[in-house]
Amino acid sequence: MAVLEFPNPALTDGTVTLRPWRAADVPQRFAAFSDPLCLRYSWPHPEPFTAQHLRDRAAADEQARLSGDRLAFAVADPHDLGTVLGGAALYDVDLEQLRARIGYWLGADSRGRGAATGTVRLLATWSFHDLGLARLELTCEPTNSASWRVAERCGFAFEGVLRSHQRFRHGRRDTAVFGLLPGELR
Ligand SMILES: CC(C)(COP(=O)(O)OP(=O)(O)OC[C@H]1O[C@@H](n2cnc3c(N)ncnc32)[C@H](O)[C@@H]1OP(=O)(O)O)[C@@H](O)C(=O)NCCC(=O)NCCS
Repeated sequence: MAVLEFPNPALTDGTVTLRPWRAADVPQRFAAFSDPLCLRYSWPHPEPFTAQHLRDRAAADEQARLSGDRLAFAVADPHDLGTVLGGAALYDVDLEQLRARIGYWLGADSRGRGAATGTVRLLATWSFHDLGLARLELTCEPTNSASWRVAERCGFAFEGVLRSHQRFRHGRRDTAVFGLLPGELR
């Protein structure tokens, strides 16, 4: 497995800059992700979300980067890189099959201005051009209309619903799957 390197210089579009997470981000990241919408759609574990999960996550993310599986980014304000708007990841990276998945979330104050759309466009462009990927996937809970809109705005095609696809809290949930091929990004 090839180590995944962070893009250098960092990907930016004037609305967001995607940079590696920093230890100093934990309080902001914890506050932003504690929002009900983030927890509802992006916290699959039965136990409550705590700042300790984020501290543990740093080592897991680095291990995943070294094994070529995942790159996790802070979505930062380009005018103040210390300000975290949200998070994003290129995950389930498979350089053999040339595909990966994109995930994202934003703090409540950072929504409604295209930060998630910009993040997906930056990651998709870099994934196709620099990593040479041939397919990107984006998944969400089927009722997550804001995420659905991000996918469609970027040109992803809705490909179907995987029923009872993953464990979520104390039960299971369906997953809507979207796919994007080179040349389809909007
Ligand atoms: C999913 C999520 C990131 C989407 O956030 P968002 O603010 O709707 O998405 P964007 O940052 O791309 O902003 C798009 C919105 O801003 C508006 N907007 C304003 N300026 C814009 C611009 N320059 N470019 C694009 N959209 C812009 C769009 O019209 C859109 O609003 P609409 O969907 O009501 O039409 C957010 O709802 C979230 O964090 N949810 C909780 C976690 C989650 O669900 N993560 C995804 C799991 S799959």
